[in-house]
Amino acid sequence: MTRMDHIALDEQARAILRGNDRGGYTVPTAGLYPYQWNWDSAFAAWGFATFDVDRAWTEIETLLSGQWEDGMVPHILFHQDDPGYFPGPGVWGTGRTPATSGISQPPVAATLARRIYETDPETGRARLRAVFPKLLAWHRWWRAHRCPTGVAAITHPWESGRDNCPDWDPGMKNVDGSNVGDYTRRDTGHVDPSMRPGKEDYDRYLAILQFGRECGWDQEVIVRDGPFLMADPAMTFILLRAHRDLAALARELGESDAELMGWAADLEAALPSIWNEDLSCYDARDLRTGEFAGVLGSGAFLAWYARVENPEMERRLMAVWNRVRFGIPSSDPAAPSFAPRRYWRGPTWPVVNSLIAMGFSGMGRDAEAERLRRETVELIEAGGFYEYFDPMDGTACGGRDFSWTAAIWLAWASPSAGRD
Ligand code: DGY
Repeated sequence: MTRMDHIALDEQARAILRGNDRGGYTVPTAGLYPYQWNWDSAFAAWGFATFDVDRAWTEIETLLSGQWEDGMVPHILFHQDDPGYFPGPGVWGTGRTPATSGISQPPVAATLARRIYETDPETGRARLRAVFPKLLAWHRWWRAHRCPTGVAAITHPWESGRDNCPDWDPGMKNVDGSNVGDYTRRDTGHVDPSMRPGKEDYDRYLAILQFGRECGWDQEVIVRDGPFLMADPAMTFILLRAHRDLAALARELGESDAELMGWAADLEAALPSIWNEDLSCYDARDLRTGEFAGVLGSGAFLAWYARVENPEMERRLMAVWNRVRFGIPSSDPAAPSFAPRRYWRGPTWPVVNSLIAMGFSGMGRDAEAERLRRETVELIEAGGFYEYFDPMDGTACGGRDFSWTAAIWLAWASPSAGRD
């Protein structure tokens, strides 16, 4: 790639973020995802921070404006109605202003707020001071409502952000989706249906949603009696790192870090409960039945991001990576469920690659971090700022002009990015 090429891509990436800006918040992509999504927004903020740090803080502030009284930051904020998306605010029925969904999403915000703060501490200090208590309340919510056995669990596959990963198959097969009634999907009108989750998946997603709505989004009831509850290694690694990053921000503000460091230590101590001996890796586990998913993918690769290492795990994961040509696959090509273009059942996500690379470089694994960056650059250079890619042949898939792909380009993948 010549210097001119990457400068043109930098400009395109900034234009995508500006184009997806709906005034204080960014949609992931027009059409397919027309609202503010939780972790998408945190990545968008990281991207904005490379050229407009004020706008970056605004993105985080708008995201936190949807916070519930119990501390939960929902996975979608429906700032304005859009009939092009299903299931919209009326289906979730959470009765909030702004209207929101009733589940959360991976808490990358503290980790990325730390990055944003470090780009310009002087401007960021007052903004950080204002958002810190909200981030802390959200982390406290994770601890109180999503760590029933010690590690982080999800109550809906959408909560993981990795919707239809084979990781959730053990829990999903026990969800009865036969009584959800008629509905019309909108996602398949925006992108090729063969790249999206199937009808049976959607029936079950809706059944889990309906359970939440019927119990008035009582998180205690959802965790205790809901149709789906799985321990998620990726969420655990993301939360573990987020606790530590928020603790670092607490110190920066002269606040105590003790509570956060305690939560981080507890998460770490609970990790053996999701160690799958047969895989020699951390693995998703159904908390209703104890069953492991038994399939590796990008979630397990986030171990390094949380500073968790193990030689046997490393050997297994590197073998998975070496089975594909581009990036870390969301699921192992050796698994029977592997589908290289169907949403989270195989493809590689530039945004997840950016987190995994952050993990590699934080552990001094510069060669792996650089390999992952190079492979991600090749994908974006050839295919554009798509949502995700086929890890075997590099075909661009899903939504186009995607905010988080543009954001991680600016903050991490581009040769002009300020990497750590
Ligand atoms: C969707 O609608 O596909 C989303 O991923 C749910 O968050």
